[in-house]
Amino acid sequence: MDKMSYGKSYLTTDPLVKYVTEHSIRHTDVQKRLMEETQKHRSVGMMGAPEVLQLNANLIQAIGAKKVLDVGVFTGASALAAALVLPADGQVHALDVSKEYTDIGKSFWRDAGVSDKIEVHIAPAADTLQKFIDEGQAGTFDFAFIDADKGSYDLYYEQCLLLLRRGGIISFDNTLWSGSVIDESNQTPDTVAIRNLNKKLKDDHRINISFLSIADGLTLCFVK
Ligand SMILES: C[S@@+](CC[C@H](N)C(=O)[O-])C[C@H]1O[C@@H](n2cnc3c(N)ncnc32)[C@H](O)[C@@H]1O
Repeated sequence: MDKMSYGKSYLTTDPLVKYVTEHSIRHTDVQKRLMEETQKHRSVGMMGAPEVLQLNANLIQAIGAKKVLDVGVFTGASALAAALVLPADGQVHALDVSKEYTDIGKSFWRDAGVSDKIEVHIAPAADTLQKFIDEGQAGTFDFAFIDADKGSYDLYYEQCLLLLRRGGIISFDNTLWSGSVIDESNQTPDTVAIRNLNKKLKDDHRINISFLSIADGLTLCFVK
């Protein structure tokens, strides 16, 4: 077999991807309901893949994270997955420009009993991250999931590198960008931004790296 299929599990019918998710995804009832609700949304394809959100949650638990950045919230699936595994004094800072999207998640966060663990910041994410830096919160965050506008990924990376502690993890979604990263005829700004970031991360020795070909590509940066 020389062809491998990638893509978010809820968007593909690939039998092997289906097999993997059937044998690994552990959703709570509220997570299932939030996914079903989001699947009715016109922008459903923006929702984080369950296999990615579960990996993030496992990493958050493994490193004993308490402070999490969720950069790009949409209907709140990634914030919910993170909040569910945080201790009682843990906090997800959920950053998005859209109150309309984030409001969809709020009743699900409440039903899951994690509302107190999710603080929403409605503003361009770069402004909120800069505010955290200016407030002296550098080095105090444990985990960041970056899943907002692709053109700003590099800026978010530099800001999150400041905000995370050593041993923290930055998780970048969509780093395969539907495969367009290897199609040099594709020069859209988002594709170029992700391609440039991928090149930069490969040789950036401030981090250790794992580039995973799951869902739409997930790059994990382990801060040194
Ligand atoms: C791919 S979705 C996030 C999906 C979410 N992480 C999940 O797991 O379902 C991207 C989100 O980024 C938000 N966004 C776009 N540009 C932004 C910006 N400059 N600052 C903050 N959020 C932004 C959009 O409103 C959208 O909700």
